[in-house]
Amino acid sequence: MAAQTIEGKAISAAVREEVRLEAQELSSAGVVPGLATVLVGDDPASSTYVRSKQRACEKAGIYSRDIRLEETTGEAELLATVENLNADPSIDGILVQLPLPAHINSRRIIEAIDPEKDVDGFHPVNLGKLLAGEDAFYPCTPYGITVLLERSGVEVEGTHVVIVGRSNIVGKPLAALLMQKRSGANATVTVCHSRTADLATHTRRADILIVAAGRRAFVTGDMVGEGAVVIDVGINRVDDPQAKRGYRLVGDVDYEGAAERASLITPVPGGVGPMTIAMLLKNTNRAARKRANG
Ligand code: GUN
Repeated sequence: MAAQTIEGKAISAAVREEVRLEAQELSSAGVVPGLATVLVGDDPASSTYVRSKQRACEKAGIYSRDIRLEETTGEAELLATVENLNADPSIDGILVQLPLPAHINSRRIIEAIDPEKDVDGFHPVNLGKLLAGEDAFYPCTPYGITVLLERSGVEVEGTHVVIVGRSNIVGKPLAALLMQKRSGANATVTVCHSRTADLATHTRRADILIVAAGRRAFVTGDMVGEGAVVIDVGINRVDDPQAKRGYRLVGDVDYEGAAERASLITPVPGGVGPMTIAMLLKNTNRAARKRANG
């Protein structure tokens, strides 16, 4: 079987257009959605992500504030910045770019964000609500994956989803989302990780295989069941002198090998990646709508 591609770029563009229209509607009603991004230090990858988020806000008609702090910023100053944003009525969403420098306790910062402005969905209140099946901000990458599946016509209900990776940002919240009792979910979920024995036995049984392992070619073609849907969350840089920037991006799945057996597969880049920012914008509008509704 030769897999068809799941068009993350096109699906994310559609979501962003919906977000733009919604932001327009909110703005007409006097509530301009607002997102603040906070970057500590100047890590090149983080700077690129933050710039993309700022640009996406601009295109969607969402007000954005770009806060840059020195690498040496102390925890108290960062906490004060978060508190100011919590109190600022023009800011609906707060995103503190991770990872933070080692001298700052990330958990303490995330917990300082008002859960009503936690558009990343990383605050324990939102993660707890997600686990309980309550209304919450969902973390953007897992949320984006559910939208990718839905808009690619993949029926999730009753299927066996195997997730490789148990991070707090992707694996764990994704498992909670997909096993929820609601339409578009209702899956049976297996979560595998670095200590899973005989990983391939699990991955081959997946109807939907989602890989967020953080390692290039972690899942090879022989680990994919015939006809499976493969979602590759990985983004890894590989040196390539021919490429414009001297490197190219690959996922956690051996794409060519997996595509021979899968029915549908996400490319890297252009699969899951573009969805994350689209869902961040959607979460920001959602926070703004709550403000509009008082
Ligand atoms: N670093 C990498 N991905 C993310 C993300 O989705 N949110 C934040 N805040 N930091 C990140």
